[in-house]
Amino acid sequence: MPSPVQRATKLFVRTFGTSPDACFQAPGRINLMGEHTDYNEGFVLPAAVNFRVLAAVKRREDDLFRVVTDIDADNFVEWTFGKEALEDTDFHWSHYLKSFTAALAMSGLKSCGVDVAIISDIPMESGFSSSAALQIAFGTAVNNSSQLFLSPLAIAQLAQRGEHHFMARTCGMKDQMISALAEADQALLIDCLDLDYESVTIPDNLSIIIVHSGKYAKDIQTKYQLRKDECQQVAEYFGLESLRHVSESQLKQHRSQLDEHLYQRARHVITENARTQSAARALEQGNIKKISKLMEQSHQSMRDDFEMSIPEIDLLVDIIKQQVGDRGGVRLTGSGFGGSVIALVEHELTDDVVTAVETQYLAHTGIEAQVYLCSAAAAAARVDE
Ligand code: GLA
Repeated sequence: MPSPVQRATKLFVRTFGTSPDACFQAPGRINLMGEHTDYNEGFVLPAAVNFRVLAAVKRREDDLFRVVTDIDADNFVEWTFGKEALEDTDFHWSHYLKSFTAALAMSGLKSCGVDVAIISDIPMESGFSSSAALQIAFGTAVNNSSQLFLSPLAIAQLAQRGEHHFMARTCGMKDQMISALAEADQALLIDCLDLDYESVTIPDNLSIIIVHSGKYAKDIQTKYQLRKDECQQVAEYFGLESLRHVSESQLKQHRSQLDEHLYQRARHVITENARTQSAARALEQGNIKKISKLMEQSHQSMRDDFEMSIPEIDLLVDIIKQQVGDRGGVRLTGSGFGGSVIALVEHELTDDVVTAVETQYLAHTGIEAQVYLCSAAAAAARVDE
């Protein structure tokens, strides 16, 4: 079986009739704790996973970008640096890449053109942020081909700025940062206020399991924006830019002046920030009981206060919780309203969890859940194998 590098190289040669200079990869990610906290300038605790986007690249002497992917292998997309014309077409995967070069141009940086062939083994729409991995693999390839000497954090910032500015997607920084900065076997505790970060070792007796419910969020952009606006309203009530500087006791004191649902949204964010920091410490100490409790509280908070869960996700959480007790934790992960749960469980319990999910979830819902066993992978880099 050909390796991913061989597959990307083959697609490159077939499309452009020449060999690539190099291959770069960027991983997808999961989030252990800290949901809807990033755009509130709070804390998140993601890890990169062993699914990745791979980009085979060759430098060009002009300022033309030509990109092909394995999902549409017969057509490449082409644009000129600084003339991305994003507003002229309906949404397309290439917008994630065009918005990156547009962000480079907006920052006054100049990149040479490249030909790129992209392949990916990241399950699509399953909560692994394949889009951030795509941006970071491409950004890392462009950075190297053009000798721009951007740091991984700068690549992540450009990716997010491009998405924000040119695609009108107001996502936080979590997904791009983890893909650009992760270390193997580590999670990253990111402070989204100043983008400070520290690596946190994931105990090696724990398995990371992602289970996709088979239910996809409807109208996710609208629901996401609504939650964002609700959080912003509470921050503004306190005369602050974000919820980061509102304490739980401060919030409690003002409960009667706030709409109850706004109070609940803010309580989720504030308590989730505290849980995320505690989870990082608990991971470092290998304190699984504590992780189990924090993940349970996080799920309750997302379900009851942020109202971002659905019955199928709650069911998955119950099924897994019953198997693992306090020898593991489980919670919804990602933007919510559908999607996946994440479980961190002692290795010996992995088979029991998988069997329980496969049998009980199907019996209750008639839906086959997708189970992914993940390991914490390293950040974007050149690959030669
Ligand atoms: C989406 C966004 C992230 C984050 C999560 C919720 O995945 O892309 O930036 O806000 O939702 O935690």
